[in-house]
Amino acid sequence: MVIYTVTTHTGKTLLSGTTSLIYIQLRGSEAESEEKNLNPLKGFLPGSERTFKINCKASLGELISVKLYSKPFMHLDNQWFCDKILVNTPEGDEILFPCYCWLDCNEKLVLRPAKALLVFEDTNPIAQRERMKQLEEQQKLFRWRVYAEGTPQVIDCDASYDLPAEVRFSFTKESDFYYTAAKQIAALKLTGLADSRESWKSISQLEGIFCENRGKTIEYVQEHWDKDKFFGYQFLNGLNPMLIQRCSKLPENFPVTDDMVKDSLIGSSLKQEMKKGNIFLSDYKMLDGLVGNVVVGRQQYLTAPLVLLYCNPHGMMLPIAIQLKQEPSKENPIFLPTDSKADWKLAKIFVRNAEFGVHEVDFHLLRTHLLAEVFTMATLRNLPSPHPLYKLLFPHIRYTLQINILARNRLISEDGAITLYAGVGGESLVKLLKRATASLTYSALCLPENISERGLESVPHFYYRDDGMKLWNIINKFVAAFLSHYYQSDEHVQKDTELQRWISEIFTKGFLGRDGSGIPSSLQTVTELVKFVTMVIFTASAQHASVNNGQFDLGGWMPNYPTALRNPPPKVKGQTTEDSILETLPDVGTTVNGMAVLRLLSKDSADHFPLGYFPETLYDEDVPCKLIKEFQKDLKELSDLIEGRNKKLELPYIYLNPKNVDNSVAI
Ligand code: FE2
Repeated sequence: MVIYTVTTHTGKTLLSGTTSLIYIQLRGSEAESEEKNLNPLKGFLPGSERTFKINCKASLGELISVKLYSKPFMHLDNQWFCDKILVNTPEGDEILFPCYCWLDCNEKLVLRPAKALLVFEDTNPIAQRERMKQLEEQQKLFRWRVYAEGTPQVIDCDASYDLPAEVRFSFTKESDFYYTAAKQIAALKLTGLADSRESWKSISQLEGIFCENRGKTIEYVQEHWDKDKFFGYQFLNGLNPMLIQRCSKLPENFPVTDDMVKDSLIGSSLKQEMKKGNIFLSDYKMLDGLVGNVVVGRQQYLTAPLVLLYCNPHGMMLPIAIQLKQEPSKENPIFLPTDSKADWKLAKIFVRNAEFGVHEVDFHLLRTHLLAEVFTMATLRNLPSPHPLYKLLFPHIRYTLQINILARNRLISEDGAITLYAGVGGESLVKLLKRATASLTYSALCLPENISERGLESVPHFYYRDDGMKLWNIINKFVAAFLSHYYQSDEHVQKDTELQRWISEIFTKGFLGRDGSGIPSSLQTVTELVKFVTMVIFTASAQHASVNNGQFDLGGWMPNYPTALRNPPPKVKGQTTEDSILETLPDVGTTVNGMAVLRLLSKDSADHFPLGYFPETLYDEDVPCKLIKEFQKDLKELSDLIEGRNKKLELPYIYLNPKNVDNSVAI
């Protein structure tokens, strides 16, 4: 007779415990134990550890899996959230079996040991069968669905609480509950204004609706929103630092002359300044031809502006010309800072509205949320739990499916807040999403290449780039060390059939098999693998934080980020007044609903963990544990560096401080 000692660790969060009957069975290379009922007399309390003895006639051999099974007790069936199981063998080994998921009644879970193994290293025939069975089951649970032709595929699931137990974590129906604009409006204490169709009487009237919701950044935005310096600054360090690029030749459809910009360039010419690398362009051509949404019965207007910017000798990025539509014509004037104050202000407001569409649909929804969902699905369907890449990506897929399902149900559905209140909502949103998907490239998702493609290496005061590049390098160093430990040669990458199916599915389901995207359809070398995985983690963590976390801070002050505009862009100069600006900006109700959505989107997620801090014990090997510690140390150093720099800034750039970056797309 030999004895195995089993210790169960129940999750700490509310409702993790259970009174259901839990059965366990150990499976080894030589034999399996009897099924043992673990709780004849008491249930499992949240945060508790319980130890049991399992007697076997002889050693089970090398332990391959632990099977958990749950049955209702006295008709009470409640789920159990198990963190991990530790098994002490008669041979004196302690083996960790990570779990970190819910076990539903009448369901079973098969846990594999923590030691990471590639498919060709997991050679025991029972282990191989378990591995295959796990993937077969995962592929039945997580099925792809076409959301809209020409856009990345999504999970085939309609409600976040219908998601399989594997990815439910502690996400609750309560989180769902708060994911509504109405709840946020109530939290902002603005319920009485949500249906008002009146125009604002003045810009300063808006101040009244902030009450206690006014943070330091909002105050700054309120004060500076119509200043050219802040308008230019936001192309580098605002919600969307992704559009601006160096301009060495004016686009043919943007006929700005030297005469137009002579006051801005102070004695210099466009040609000279372009040569010095001081001229920049933000082109919203992706919006060209899209028709504005109808908001509460009223047509809204979208433009596709071109903005020319000048980085002046003080290193300030300033707008010097704005054309609101792509086709140059007499009725599409080029607005200049020397025009009347109201003309110039309104032109900038149209640009900020175009920014809302491009930022939210392309750079936020598509390039972070939808891509993160593709990475999540491919990981769950193709990598079994002992796979080292599954373990590496596990913290970076948390809650992504939940939050995307909520966004589809509550924001962009037929009665979703974006569809109801955004100028770009409805049909135009889907069109824009398709255009954005068709133009998406691998290099645009890899920050070092993206910065050099846009010619932004030496632009001063570009904190998104400065912090982002450091963060990219830290993630890359960690990923390289981690993956090279498990993939000791390129041949290992090539013969990892699970990995090859993973990347192939990302290529076909996420990037629609488009070779022009530059996304690999297979991986041949460790170097290629490391670069791709760095991009995946950077996208789900840093990139999402940079385009997500400031939405209320920078967009809450409506004139800086109007969700919809009620009048068409001006065809001539000299007719805009402060009143016509108020007539064009969203009405009171649309403003309040827009603010509510932005607040909801920038709220901290239910239980969030900063980048590099992983609540789950997934490893018991020295190398990954040591690498995680080094990763955390590097992140802490960067955090200190950013905080030191920020002390000297008028407006601190906080969005890529690792402390403020979540591991995953979770909001
Ligand atoms: Fe987000």
